[in-house]
Amino acid sequence: MKPRTGADLLSLAPVVPVVVLTDPATAVPMARALVAGGLPAIEVTLRTPAGLPAIERIAAEVPGAVVGAGTVTTREQARAAAGAGAGFLVSPGCTERLYGALRETGLPFLPGVATASEALELLEWGVDALKFFPAEAAGGRAYLKALSGPLPQVRFCPTGGITPASAPDYLALPNVGCVGGTWLTPADALAAGDWARVEALAAQAAALRPAA
Ligand code: 3PG
Repeated sequence: MKPRTGADLLSLAPVVPVVVLTDPATAVPMARALVAGGLPAIEVTLRTPAGLPAIERIAAEVPGAVVGAGTVTTREQARAAAGAGAGFLVSPGCTERLYGALRETGLPFLPGVATASEALELLEWGVDALKFFPAEAAGGRAYLKALSGPLPQVRFCPTGGITPASAPDYLALPNVGCVGGTWLTPADALAAGDWARVEALAAQAAALRPAA
C-alpha cells in the first residue's frame, strides 16, 4: 500500500483529504476516522504549525494511513516533512528549485500546476502525476478535459473548490486519478472531536464513483 510514485498516489483512493490542523492532538483520532471511512491517503498541510507534529504522530500511530505533507513550498519544509515521516509530498505550484527539493527527499510527490506550460515543464523533468490547483478557480473540469487532448500522458489530482457534488464529474475524466479537498475534515468537526462525522464524510467520499 506504500506509494512509491506519484502515479501510485493517484490510485490509492478516489479522494485525498486535505487537512488543515490547529491542534496536533486531533491528528491521530482524525486519521483513524478517515482510514475507518475508507480514505487511507491523508494530506496534512504545512500551513499551520500543527502540520509537522501531526504528520509525525499519524505516521507513528496510525498504521493504516498513508500520511503526506501538503503546501510544501520550500526545501526546508520538504526535508522537515520527510524527517517527520511523511510518505509523500504535495506542493501548490512548482519551481525548478522546489522540484529539486521534492526530488531529493526520495519520496513520491505531486507538484501543483495550473497551466499547459507548467505541466509541460514538469513533463520535461520526468513528472507525469500532478496536482491541478486551484482547480475550480483555474478553469475546473472543462479546463482539465481540454488538457487531456494535447497532454494525454499527464494524470492529475485536482484540488481547490471541489465538493462531493462536483467530484464525480472530475473523476469521470480520463486524466484524473483522484481529487482532493478539505470538505472531509470541517473545522467545527475537528474542534468538537466529532470523529463519527469525519468517518461518515470519508465513507461517502470513498464510495464516490466517476459520473456516468
Ligand atoms: C488545497 O490546498 O489543496 C486546497 O486548499 C484544498 O481546497 P478546498 O479547501 O477548496 O478543498
